[in-house]
Amino acid sequence: MQTLILKGSDIKPLASIKDIIQAVEEAFKQKGLGKVQMPPKTYLYFEKHGGDLRSMPSALESPEIAGVKVVNYHPNNRNLKLPSVMATIILIDPKTGTPLAIMDGTWITAMRTGAASAVAAKHLARKNCKTLGLVGTGTQAVTQLMGIHAVRPIQQVKAYDIYPEGRKAFVEKMSREYPDVTFQAVSSAEEAVKDSDILVTVTPAREPVVFNQWIQEGIHISAIGADAPGKEELDPAILKRAKIVVDDKEQTFHAGEINVPLKKGLIKPSDIYAELGDIVAGKAEARESDREITLFDSTGVAILDVVSAKLVYDRAVQKGVGLNLDLVSS
Ligand SMILES: NC(=O)c1ccc[n+]([C@@H]2O[C@H](COP(=O)([O-])OP(=O)(O)OC[C@H]3O[C@@H](n4cnc5c(N)ncnc54)[C@H](O)[C@@H]3O)[C@@H](O)[C@H]2O)c1
Repeated sequence: MQTLILKGSDIKPLASIKDIIQAVEEAFKQKGLGKVQMPPKTYLYFEKHGGDLRSMPSALESPEIAGVKVVNYHPNNRNLKLPSVMATIILIDPKTGTPLAIMDGTWITAMRTGAASAVAAKHLARKNCKTLGLVGTGTQAVTQLMGIHAVRPIQQVKAYDIYPEGRKAFVEKMSREYPDVTFQAVSSAEEAVKDSDILVTVTPAREPVVFNQWIQEGIHISAIGADAPGKEELDPAILKRAKIVVDDKEQTFHAGEINVPLKKGLIKPSDIYAELGDIVAGKAEARESDREITLFDSTGVAILDVVSAKLVYDRAVQKGVGLNLDLVSS
């Protein structure tokens, strides 16, 4: 019985965003069909350090796999030159409980979050979306762009970050990586939002940074940043106008973009249209008109980590990548 140890640098060459999008879409479908186990994530708070730690277990029947991710969010880590989000995934064989692999989950977290937005955009955004607005240009913004670019013909990106150096560096780097796309670092969230076909909000904000009067009909919004209680990026008036699709009802009720407006009684649980898995599984309609405002509320669901980790594990085994250890003593 051996356990495979995989470092971040082992993992990155093993899967593309298209591979992860495919795995993530299938995981959402399995959730829509009711074939996954996934209790809501649990949190520890490190208030004096302004950070948190979450544990995220899940199991699927197809592919038959289980695992748990441990992941933090420490927004002040930039000052220490550390990533704000760092993750470790333990992949488990459900037949015996054997720990198949222990791997860095930092890159997988970013890729599966970008892939979740891609799957949502594939089902909810208008087909001819060309302009992407980004509010927040940190780590996750890179894979948000990767995911959306993989499913829609994006030609222009307007990027805003509260930190001017950050948005400038993002635009410079991404212009080199996507020569077919025009990038603009804009100096307000309003400029990033106005006239964009798709908007991704990906900040740690705890009060709205995007306002209702900037939002035009037909836009698709991916609200990524709010993934813990008290976090909020959108003016609740936007939620009243939008078809709200969540990644997981229970989890978004306490931690998603909807958590604060629900607690304040500004929206009701019945305002939530569906889970993304219901749409992928064909149990709920996707976008119904070009004028509809669609909103994907993502908290990040554990099944996405486990299916992405399994994809990476299978390829690592095939290619002989990683370090095998006799981790468990018999
Ligand atoms: N939904 C999910 O599955 C999921 C997954 C991973 C991370 N997240 C969340 O996404 C958010 C961003 O994560 P990250 O890893 O990119 O963090 P990061 O620290 O790398 O980047 C966040 C960026 O937001 C900017 N920012 C902060 N406040 C802002 C504001 N008011 N307006 C504009 N920009 C602002 C910061 O300057 C920074 O560049 C966090 O809240 C994190 O918890 C969600």
